[in-house]
Amino acid sequence: MFGIAALLLLLLATTFATAAPNCPPLGPVFEKPRNFKSSAAIRAALANLTETFQARDADNSAAVRANITSYSLEVFSISDTDPVVFSWHHTAPAHASSNVTNGGVKETDADTVYRLGSLTKIFTVYTWLAQDGDVRWNEPITKYVPELAKAADKAKDDPVGNVAWGEVTVGSLAGQLSGAVRDYGLMGELTQTVDQNTAVQLGFPALNSSDPTLPKCGVWPHCNRTAYTNTGFQILAYALESIKGKPFQTLMEESILHPLNLSHTFYNKAPSNLGIIPGPGTPSDAQWDYQLGDENPAGNMYSSVRDISALGRSIMRSTLLAPVLTNRWLKPAALTSEPNAGVGYPWGIRRIVLSSVTNGKRVVDAYNKAGRIGYYNSLLNLLPDYGVGFSVLLAGPNLPANANFNLADVLGEQLLPALEAAAREQAQDTYGGSYYSNGGGNSSLKITTQPDRPGLGIENWVSNGTDMQYVAVVLAAGYAPVNPSIRLYPTGLETTVIPGEMDRENGRAATKGKRVAYKAVFEDLNVPSRTPPSMFSTDCGSWVSLTGVTYGSMPLDQFFFEVDGSGRVVSIENAALRMVMRKG
Ligand SMILES: *[C@@H]1O[C@H](CO)[C@@H](O)[C@H](O)[C@H]1NC(C)=O
Ligand SMILES: *[C@@H]1O[C@H](CO)[C@@H](O)[C@H](O)[C@H]1NC(C)=O
Ligand SMILES: *[C@@H]1O[C@H](CO)[C@@H](O)[C@H](O)[C@H]1NC(C)=O
Ligand SMILES: *[C@@H]1O[C@H](CO)[C@@H](O)[C@H](O)[C@H]1NC(C)=O
Ligand SMILES: *[C@@H]1O[C@H](CO)[C@@H](O)[C@H](O)[C@H]1NC(C)=O
Ligand SMILES: *[C@@H]1O[C@H](CO)[C@@H](O)[C@H](O)[C@H]1NC(C)=O
Ligand SMILES: *[C@@H]1O[C@H](CO)[C@@H](O)[C@H](O)[C@H]1NC(C)=O
Ligand SMILES: *[C@@H]1O[C@H](CO)[C@@H](O)[C@H](O)[C@H]1NC(C)=O
Repeated sequence: MFGIAALLLLLLATTFATAAPNCPPLGPVFEKPRNFKSSAAIRAALANLTETFQARDADNSAAVRANITSYSLEVFSISDTDPVVFSWHHTAPAHASSNVTNGGVKETDADTVYRLGSLTKIFTVYTWLAQDGDVRWNEPITKYVPELAKAADKAKDDPVGNVAWGEVTVGSLAGQLSGAVRDYGLMGELTQTVDQNTAVQLGFPALNSSDPTLPKCGVWPHCNRTAYTNTGFQILAYALESIKGKPFQTLMEESILHPLNLSHTFYNKAPSNLGIIPGPGTPSDAQWDYQLGDENPAGNMYSSVRDISALGRSIMRSTLLAPVLTNRWLKPAALTSEPNAGVGYPWGIRRIVLSSVTNGKRVVDAYNKAGRIGYYNSLLNLLPDYGVGFSVLLAGPNLPANANFNLADVLGEQLLPALEAAAREQAQDTYGGSYYSNGGGNSSLKITTQPDRPGLGIENWVSNGTDMQYVAVVLAAGYAPVNPSIRLYPTGLETTVIPGEMDRENGRAATKGKRVAYKAVFEDLNVPSRTPPSMFSTDCGSWVSLTGVTYGSMPLDQFFFEVDGSGRVVSIENAALRMVMRKG
């Protein structure tokens, strides 16, 4: 402590032109954008997307196949001002000019129904969470599907040949981590169309029909609960049916489809007249008709982009789940061998580094679920940091590999930097400016934003004549910084303030407003940045230091803004200093 006190007296607040990156905690660094169309950055991104998709829709190369591939996409947001930020619909000329639409639509729009494939799994897990929360997620599945207990016993003697079902939890099934085989059947895909003869031609040995390990069910007859498959999502549905005593379809309809009014979403076969059913060939060739039976919860469903957007909004707004449950759902269950990817419940998580911001320390996590079945390909993408997502549905007889993620790449390249810019501009307009207090000491600070830095910057923070910017960073770092930096990040916590309570300093009656909590990170930007990263040491460990400095039990990194009924920021208060500074 002696050392710190001595250092504080030095007050060597020299600033350097070339500063190390700021390290924000994971999550949004600004409040979510609300008014998209008013942002010049978003408008420029949307103009680029319009031109890019126009060009793409004339591209018949093998990578795009626009002449035979139809699609619908929406960029949606949780903002009431702009719930749909961008939409695009393309109908393949081959389909539009064909008089063989298989009873489906001739042209695609936001209500056109496509098949989802594995995107169905999000509906399945959402149904579980809405019906039952996640309290049972660490319990063994054998508790709810007792048929599996016998197999669990076999694993005790022969763990090589049997799944240890007694160790498989409900959550591990939802998170794709159970270790159970992917599908049960001849050739390991849900929509198996490979028969024995084809398999033998591919080089597989002929199977002996008396082999006891051969599947008793699959494409036909469908597997059911007595002859169950190992597929995790089918088993999850059985478990929820046991817990709730109702068919899974009913559970999904009553907890998800009806509350969200998803009138173009179907658990079983959708009406053909709502769908796009491309040729060549019949609805069966497109696999429009094919039903997965008891494996429905893994991949059977049908929906439109309007409905998928509504689903995504409801997840990010927590309309059906408690916010704390949503926060747990939108977390990784495991890492993968790709450093920028993870696995969720059953999300695929992509960690996107916004390289234009703070030297690569600004990471945006995207929660994705894709699907493919027959002529159909799907994707739901969520960007919780911005309250924005993409719905992408495609249909075509020969879909290019990765067609769904290719469209997300096009959208994301334009939109992510623009969303960050829009959020920053909004934060600057709301919070930027000078704050000061004359009563009880001479105190002031300035709030700014910068394109290459995350969060709100605090500058020139003087508290009763003391350089608090320096003091705060010394106390947090434990040594004298030469380039102290303070950035503020939104916590998402707000309290509605009743009139009269908020304008404490002047004692004036105020309109109903809110008190908004921000958390600060105190950093010395003169610390060398580790490029390439060291094996164990980090230059981005700010999560450890939060609430590290307190005074009278209140954190020095805790700030509150008071905002009046018209959205105007009135003041900022530091919790430890118990000091309110009014916005100038
Ligand atoms: C869209 O922006 C990208 C760079 O982000 C650029 O390469 C491309 O040419 C632009 N396209 C159009 C049509 O403006
Ligand atoms: C689509 O375009 C490709 C490439 O030009 C062409 O080979 C193919 O015949 C076209 N298909 C249809 C159905 O128009
Ligand atoms: C499709 O239209 C063409 C040209 O109008 C016609 O010759 C053909 O019989 C039609 N086919 C069907 C299946 O209606
Ligand atoms: C199939 O398996 C049975 C029982 O193991 C055996 O008797 C029979 O010879 C096998 N058939 C072939 C063609 O291998
Ligand atoms: C499940 O499938 C098996 C084999 O296909 C059949 O024998 C059995 O009756 C079916 N059980 C139910 C409940 O449908
Ligand atoms: C439900 O959706 C349908 C069609 O999309 C629409 O006509 C109807 O107004 C919606 N109902 C509610 C309660 O939002
Ligand atoms: C401000 O500092 C002076 C001494 O420097 C002290 O007397 C006074 O109490 C302080 N005021 C507040 C509000 O901390
Ligand atoms: C408050 O601080 C400012 C800037 O440091 C200084 O110019 C001013 O004289 C101070 N006022 C009082 C009352 O101490």
